[in-house]
Amino acid sequence: MRLEGKVGLVTGASSGIGAATARFFANEGMAGVIVADINDELGAQVMSEINEGGGNAIYVHLDVSDEDHWQAAVKAAVAKYGGLDVTMNNAGMSVPASRKKVEDTTLEIWNAMHAVNATGVFLGMKHSIPEMRKRGGGSIINTSSIFGIVGSGSGTAYHSAKGAVRTLTKAAAIQYASEKIRVNSIHPGFADTGMTKDLHAQPGERERRIALIPLGRMGLPEDMAWGAVYLASDESSFVTGIELVIDGGTIAQ
Ligand code: NAI
Repeated sequence: MRLEGKVGLVTGASSGIGAATARFFANEGMAGVIVADINDELGAQVMSEINEGGGNAIYVHLDVSDEDHWQAAVKAAVAKYGGLDVTMNNAGMSVPASRKKVEDTTLEIWNAMHAVNATGVFLGMKHSIPEMRKRGGGSIINTSSIFGIVGSGSGTAYHSAKGAVRTLTKAAAIQYASEKIRVNSIHPGFADTGMTKDLHAQPGERERRIALIPLGRMGLPEDMAWGAVYLASDESSFVTGIELVIDGGTIAQ
């Protein structure tokens, strides 16, 4: 019951890292979990699983790049549970058209990648902070990536957006530390999720990635979710502005 009594909103919670985190948040005693995503069908499933398992969750349709959606989602959280303590800005995407070098990246895909992966995080913080202030503090967890720290042979716009999340997190951490609103980023390494399904199905690609991981296996959504539980809990009450890398050692070498 590491999160007993807290209310937490997780974006991109219909699948992968976000779904695992929403489940863990509920298992750790959260009074309310807001499962937020654009995939309504899967999101409703995650919500039902949590509620059937004795937790307390609602699902809200939230496109993180849409400010009106954010206002409505935070309002729904407060209406149902009376406040907001934790926001995990986790929704993100990478698609074949974004896995390109600089010259091959269209402006359209550049803008689309930043809208979700970077602007979505900014809006999530912007609309969560006022509610956290009313509670006397809170915890914001932003999902970046190891690709927000190091480069690779492609994924230009993804690297840029995830890099933005890395320093945006630190800026917000400094701005709101005096109000006890902590802001940290999680940097997952390679993991099997909805986002990487097509990539990891390509011949040899999954094996190539595993060979880059010193701990010798692909990451699981749960590996990342445990990091989110720590950052959401009061166990991390002296922790703000950090980048928690969860990658099996990939970028330590
Ligand atoms: P996933 O595809 O399983 O989950 C992402 C979720 O975000 C999906 O449910 C999707 O519907 C939702 N989503 C996409 N666009 C959205 C939008 N505009 N508004 C709201 N929700 C939206 O993928 P995964 O891996 O669980 O992704 C979670 C986060 O982890 C992302 O930010 C991703 O960039 C990051 N990440 C993932 C890595 C991996 O290897 N899987 C590695 C490093 C970072």
